[in-house]
Amino acid sequence: MAEKLWNGRFEQPTDKLVEDYTASIHFDSRLYRHDIQGSIAHCRMLAECGIISFDEASLIVQTLGEILRDIERGKIALDSSQEDIHMAIENELTARIGETGGKLHTARSRNDQVALDMRLFMREAISSILDLLRLVQATLVKMAEDNLSVIMPGFTHLQHAQPILFSHHLMAYYEMFGRDFARLTDCLGRTDIMPLGSAALAGTAFPTDMEWTARQLGFPRVIENSIDAVSDRDYLIEFCSASAILMMHVSRLAEELVIWSSAEFAFIEISDGFCTGSSIMPQKKNPDVPELMRGKTGRVYGNLFALLTVAKGLPLAYNRDLQEDKEPVFDSVDTVTATVRLLGKMLPQIRINSERMGLMAGQGFTAATDLADYLARRDVPFRKAHHVAGRIVQHCIQAGKELVECSLDELKAFHKAFEEDVFAYLDIAGIVDRRESVGGTATVRVKEAIARAKADLESREPGSKKNIETEE
Ligand code: ARG
Repeated sequence: MAEKLWNGRFEQPTDKLVEDYTASIHFDSRLYRHDIQGSIAHCRMLAECGIISFDEASLIVQTLGEILRDIERGKIALDSSQEDIHMAIENELTARIGETGGKLHTARSRNDQVALDMRLFMREAISSILDLLRLVQATLVKMAEDNLSVIMPGFTHLQHAQPILFSHHLMAYYEMFGRDFARLTDCLGRTDIMPLGSAALAGTAFPTDMEWTARQLGFPRVIENSIDAVSDRDYLIEFCSASAILMMHVSRLAEELVIWSSAEFAFIEISDGFCTGSSIMPQKKNPDVPELMRGKTGRVYGNLFALLTVAKGLPLAYNRDLQEDKEPVFDSVDTVTATVRLLGKMLPQIRINSERMGLMAGQGFTAATDLADYLARRDVPFRKAHHVAGRIVQHCIQAGKELVECSLDELKAFHKAFEEDVFAYLDIAGIVDRRESVGGTATVRVKEAIARAKADLESREPGSKKNIETEE
């Protein structure tokens, strides 16, 4: 391992096993861009405040830029010979420009440095997930609009309940992802806070200007308390929590796609590009992508618990335990990003079997509620109407037929209030369109929901918070 930057008070070298155990470079090396971005801003601030000279600052900034390019070209090995990414970059800097490199770490510590790096990283990660999520929502709206005439059976307890518009069902997911979007946006607000300059925990005696650093890095504000700055991981826990809920939503949709693509349902067909075959059964086309979306939800839940557990009971301020925040967070970022991206790609390629959905929408006595409603509108108390309709359903089950296959006389035998118009009343499309209550499945309401969604999507134009300093 390279010479330790902190070894002044040590007489004996670090045990090799300890080096391996404590190193984080194998996972935090992905923060190199953010680390350099933060260091450049910090270095400029030190010069602006007269803490180092402008000449020293420009040499450091220029060299950091070169190091960034060399890392990107794979010319610098970020491997286990270094403890973490912060040490690796500082060692490289000092190797290139000598003692001046050692001035960069004035008025900061790795505790506030790693907090800054993670906030910079998460700001980008959350922004890009938000963009992808918005795309999924836009896809759902487009599918809802393109399939407005498709009627499907709505389910409760996975039993046929009442006919609904397929578009209405899709728009329910739009709402769910809308809440995920709001949660992540909220989390982004609490991520977008500048902690650098809090140093180890107490702040610094140097005349720094944290507001200046914040402006350089595009942070709207500076953190209030230096102890909180180095020990707060709430924004990561919030991200993992919002991610867990988001993945729960994805897994519900994924589960429906799996069920709907079975031969028994045959509501949809997932395109070949998103399925795989079986090594033994030649006929198989398996919905692996939605299955894995469902499956990967587990690890995202796990990451939330890992993080909550790491943070539990930790005394203030920084403790090395906090290094364990990174792998779960990175895993959730990667899993959610890949999942949401793939979902947006898979959905528009799904073939919808509208005929089959429509056929099934009329089966399983989905009109029974309306049969009761028909009587209730003719002044029969609903409880009584419900009972009569139930008896008719029972009669149909025994006779092996659907409600509309009964004759008027058959119906009249159950209640005298039935008239010829009952058959029109049980028409599936009519049943759907009658449900005009707020948020109901009637075509007019779903059209309004789609229009609202479109306006909402437009008001949330994508715009990622990207790195302003180091992006080439
Ligand atoms: N690798 C460390 C982490 O991720 C950086 C901060 C180290 N600070 C310290 N005092 N050892 O938490």
